[in-house]
Amino acid sequence: MGGQLQDRVAIITGSGRGQGLSAAKLFVSEGAKVVINDLDEQSVKNAVNEITSAGGTAVPAVGDVSDPAAVERVLQVAQDSFGGLDILYNNAGIGYSATERMSIGMGDILSTSIEDWQRTLDINLNGVFYFCKFGIPQLAERGGGVIINTASIAALRGGQNAHAYGASKAAIVQLTKSIAVTYGKQGIRANAICPGVIDTEMIHDTMLSDEARVTAIRQRTPIGEIGTADDIAATALFLASDAGKFITGQAVAVDGGMTA
Ligand SMILES: NC(=O)c1ccc[n+]([C@@H]2O[C@H](COP(=O)([O-])OP(=O)(O)OC[C@H]3O[C@@H](n4cnc5c(N)ncnc54)[C@H](O)[C@@H]3O)[C@@H](O)[C@H]2O)c1
Repeated sequence: MGGQLQDRVAIITGSGRGQGLSAAKLFVSEGAKVVINDLDEQSVKNAVNEITSAGGTAVPAVGDVSDPAAVERVLQVAQDSFGGLDILYNNAGIGYSATERMSIGMGDILSTSIEDWQRTLDINLNGVFYFCKFGIPQLAERGGGVIINTASIAALRGGQNAHAYGASKAAIVQLTKSIAVTYGKQGIRANAICPGVIDTEMIHDTMLSDEARVTAIRQRTPIGEIGTADDIAATALFLASDAGKFITGQAVAVDGGMTA
């Protein structure tokens, strides 16, 4: 019996760790062949090793999503390794990040430098644009496919900080809806996932670093928990699989009810 994504080819950006890695492992366990993309070469190697040594199919594609030439190379890896593309999961993003300055994209407008604003938009938004621009023809060539773009609950409401981050993520939601409207008849579904507070390295040493903040977040969350990368991966699988075949153009908050 085949898995929910049997023989489908997926690119997952930023899948060296965190939510992307969790989704890569879940997609592979459901029969997908996955291109592991990340900026961080070592994490790509580790992810591919972990998946292939467990019997799954994954290939590496190191590259910066904010570089259009690198994006074309990553898409070519899917073609060369697996002959096409069925699922494009644009997960890579920065905010609170171990690989970037802690505050990038996370200040208010007055404290955000022009450089930080541009870097945040370059990675979080332009990277999605490049992958969709060059990837949609590849999906259409196979008679359709699925796009999942990672936004955030910061896309859905204002905040006293995270102004660049929130703007980049809100734009992703809008772009996702327009893609869904425009390419639906070509068999392409596009949805955004809006994670709430998810315990990954992006926020582990910042937002989740002290017990008082964790307690405050739990209190603001109806479910009363901090989310996990697996919670997001499960949603991505649902949207990517045929179980989600009538869902397109949506921004799905996976946030324990925080935005409710
Ligand atoms: N963790 C949260 O609470 C939270 C909440 C809302 C949204 N998100 C979003 O979820 C997505 C995944 O984040 P995560 O929580 O797994 O964090 P993470 O920092 O653990 O993972 C992000 C991955 O993206 C990679 N990356 C960063 N810049 C890149 C680039 N230019 N090119 C290629 N790869 C790049 C990083 O190397 C890293 O492996 C991001 O888009 C993030 O904005 C996270």
